[in-house]
Amino acid sequence: MIIAIDGPAAAGKGTLARRLAEHFGLALLDTGLLYRAVGMNMVRGGADPNDPVLAEAAAKALTPKDLEAEDLRTDAAAAAASRVSAVPGVRAQLLEFQRNFAADPPGGAKGTVLDGRDIGTVVCPDADAKLFITATVEVRAERRFKELRERGLDAIHGRVLADMEERDARDRDRAVSPLEPAEDAYQLDTSDLDADQVFAAALGFIRSGNGQVS
Ligand code: DC
Repeated sequence: MIIAIDGPAAAGKGTLARRLAEHFGLALLDTGLLYRAVGMNMVRGGADPNDPVLAEAAAKALTPKDLEAEDLRTDAAAAAASRVSAVPGVRAQLLEFQRNFAADPPGGAKGTVLDGRDIGTVVCPDADAKLFITATVEVRAERRFKELRERGLDAIHGRVLADMEERDARDRDRAVSPLEPAEDAYQLDTSDLDADQVFAAALGFIRSGNGQVS
């Protein structure tokens, strides 16, 4: 059983993915972490994340242990991830990791929830349920701004919004695996919804729309 969740940054994918994984007893893979780890391995080693040859080599060398690094949730990691994720060779290297995880989930789980940008379209086109989670860029920037402030980090609202718009554009406009909904995805705009309402809507879709997940 595979649930694919895609959408732009700060739309609510991560929270929804966690809740669905808990509810159905499925293993969870935040695929953004793979790109973040590749990007940060490069930055730490002094390499330019825009260099396609070095980026592909970094993706090839990635180990599960790299996903435990503490700095993967930082803005620096997000920026590096956004660059390496546009490199076709990086995406090809990470595809196998993601498909293996989905085919053979750890801990004997009976299935997987994967969240990212191209899960329903490229990584798991045969997923049992596909969700595409969005929100306006203003709402997403506001959520990210509050989160940064709550973590005690200095943040400038206009800068957070500009970064979000820039990253959206890179994710949508890249030639390989751009951010776009799969044809059979359930699209949900979370701009005016809280986490409980998003979970309820997703659950309703999974139960009624597919009948394969119970
Ligand atoms: O979801 P996130 O913020 O952790 O993603 C970081 C970057 O990685 C983002 O710019 C998009 C990219 N990404 C991707 O291209 N494909 C995925 N399946 C997941 C993330």
